[in-house]
Amino acid sequence: MQKFVIIGGVPLSGQVRIAGAKNAVLKQMAAAVLTDDLCTLRNVPKISDVAILREVMGDIGFEVRRTNGDGLELRAREVTWPFVPLEAGMKMRASFILLGPMLARFGRLILPNPGGDRIGRRPVDYHVAAMEAMGATIEYRNGYYFASAPHDGLRGAHIEFPTITVMGTENAMMAATLARGTTVIDNAALEPEVDDLIAMLCGMGAQIQRTGERSIEVQGVERLHGTEHRVIGDRLEAETFAIAAAITRGDVTLTGIDPAHLGSFLQVCERMGVPYEVDPAAASVVIRGAASGELRPVDVRTDEYPGFATDFQAPLSVLMTQAVGASTIHETIFEDRLDHTRQLVKMGADIELLDNRRARITGPTPLHGAEVAIADLRAGATLVLAALVASGTSVISGIEHVDRGYEQIEAKLVALGAQINRIEA
Ligand code: EPU
Repeated sequence: MQKFVIIGGVPLSGQVRIAGAKNAVLKQMAAAVLTDDLCTLRNVPKISDVAILREVMGDIGFEVRRTNGDGLELRAREVTWPFVPLEAGMKMRASFILLGPMLARFGRLILPNPGGDRIGRRPVDYHVAAMEAMGATIEYRNGYYFASAPHDGLRGAHIEFPTITVMGTENAMMAATLARGTTVIDNAALEPEVDDLIAMLCGMGAQIQRTGERSIEVQGVERLHGTEHRVIGDRLEAETFAIAAAITRGDVTLTGIDPAHLGSFLQVCERMGVPYEVDPAAASVVIRGAASGELRPVDVRTDEYPGFATDFQAPLSVLMTQAVGASTIHETIFEDRLDHTRQLVKMGADIELLDNRRARITGPTPLHGAEVAIADLRAGATLVLAALVASGTSVISGIEHVDRGYEQIEAKLVALGAQINRIEA
């Protein structure tokens, strides 16, 4: 088991290149299933979720291979075994994204119920209902979904999601690209990662349009062809490094990120008094933590994009511990995503849980090093951030959760001056 040992209190400074977005690339790997031509992805992050999906797709029978640098080549010629093992499904819920493309192109897939994880129940009923609306049959037995498409393929349908779902939108959209007729998806997600998937699919010859603010129309086509696509920068990684600069009162330049994707986060920076500059032409943002005065408290409610991302409320809570006064977080997307607050309290934070969706964080409280354990990806980033500002040494276990979504986080932090080591323990 590996751990991070972090000695906090060093202001970070320098430049960091943001990797490709986890929540974009996983869907784009699945999109390659929709054609037997070669698809090439660029700016693919070196994270363990990509490695897991690569393995799953390899076991199904597809060729997936890293090329020099940040490329990934995928070719889905034929299926040897249309199966996703339980272990992969448990490790990575996003493996469910293979459902739509597999049904559309090969007509079948057996995949596990990803079940809950540490941020709440996370059902997949919307995905199942969308595929059924397109004519698929999905039976649930012994923890697995046995999904098959009709002999003459999926058909277009009107799908209206009861609440907004990112992967549900993406699964339905991919299934619809090869279905007969037109599919209309209402209450669709607006996340930049969804638009990046639309861009890739259109590059493969799909007919997809956003017809209203939350409506997507897909005109099914006979076949899709190969493409080369560059994955957008990871807004969550960018926001993590932005907080690292702000809490340590350092100046950090983030490159490889579209500042437009950080809108709601930068608004919070403004309200809290963290100076920054954006340069859309250069795809960069500079966080000027060294120039910030007293930080102001804020109240934040998570929401679907373009609202404040649920994935980012935990990391933001570290900055809130350094603001003068009481901040609140209201988590509206997931039912159980405040668990990290317990670990922050161990490091000296003053946090009161008002209920399982709301927390009050009163600052400023100096944080101190502690032995803490990571329970999920974003909680992991949160504890790393807390350790960077804490006095003394922190030892963080469970860092495999961080490796799921952050490419070489410690190397990037060391390059900015942080004292962080990965040790075998
Ligand atoms: N939901 C259902 N039924 C479904 C699907 C979703 O009830 O069939 C509910 C969920 O339980 C949740 C809400 O709908 O309450 C929204 O979930 P959504 O489907 O949008 O989440 P997701 O697509 O599974 C993606 C990201 C998450 C991110 C959420 C919300 C990927 C691979 N994951 O998950 O990212 O938190 O959208 O923005 O794209 C992360 O990166 O750390 C992460 C968890």
